[in-house]
Amino acid sequence: MSSIRTAVFPVAGLGTRFLPATKAIAKEMLTVVDKPLIQYASEEAVAAGMDTLVFIVGRTKNAIIDHYDKAYELETELGLRNKTDLLKIVEEVVPPHIHCVFIRQSEALGLGHAVLCAKPAVGNEPFAVLLPDDLIYNKGGDSCIQQMVNVYEEKQGSVIGTQTVDITESDKYGMVAGPVLEQRLSRVDEIIEKPSPAEAPSDQAVVGRYILTPAIFDKLETTQRGAGNEIQLTDAIAELRKTEEIFAYSFEGARYDCGSKIGYLEANVEIALQHDEMAEGFRNYLKNLNLD
Ligand code: UTP
Repeated sequence: MSSIRTAVFPVAGLGTRFLPATKAIAKEMLTVVDKPLIQYASEEAVAAGMDTLVFIVGRTKNAIIDHYDKAYELETELGLRNKTDLLKIVEEVVPPHIHCVFIRQSEALGLGHAVLCAKPAVGNEPFAVLLPDDLIYNKGGDSCIQQMVNVYEEKQGSVIGTQTVDITESDKYGMVAGPVLEQRLSRVDEIIEKPSPAEAPSDQAVVGRYILTPAIFDKLETTQRGAGNEIQLTDAIAELRKTEEIFAYSFEGARYDCGSKIGYLEANVEIALQHDEMAEGFRNYLKNLNLD
């Protein structure tokens, strides 16, 4: 079993960049090919050995709760029609050994606040945070969160997933800097939320995967509103860094920023091109597409 048992999915953001699609459903329920974003993330956590999935939900909570609930009527109907393959797909959304916990974030006060809402479910142990709108795909290798669990097990400290970005984009991310320790691994000496390119300490951006020690909750309890007037997880990590060593891990794999329309479209195209059922047909379609 993994040393990290609990995965937290903050899915209570307003998703304004996807309106009107996100008027009644959470951004994380948007589908990439045939699966909602949230399920890519929950499968990543389960494959890495986590057995408790904590969803921090907001005003559009119903579809998420329903997606992780048993669908008696649908399952009975598929059974009666002998659609065993489809029944398996539905049943596998939540494998039998997995516990799901839903916690309401009553106001979208920021990612840091959403993570703090998970405290009663996480308790006093390290945990993972996965932002499902960052879809990370590592073909044929360990998933991003599995790679980070491996780092945690060796270093016994918080680990933040990072990626090199164009410095002109620094104001969209938390940005980190610190000395390189090993291949792909650095120490976090500085972390700043959404700095301007001139203020960015490096070109290393925080993406939506974290393994955090429970000491983060004490820091979050006193974190004031920061960038965008939101309670920022980055600011609490900056405080935690003063008392614990924190690691930045530049993961192996491709990341699609599905919180943006272009990243979401790219994910759909690339995942479709890997999809057993439709790769061939879709590739042919793209080849014959007149782009002029
Ligand atoms: P984003 O910064 O992408 O914000 O949140 P958003 O509200 O979801 O989307 P836009 O920018 O308005 O289009 C990053 C992650 O943090 C969660 C979101 O659901 C997303 O997974 N989040 C953010 C919360 O759970 N609660 C919050 O108060 C804010």
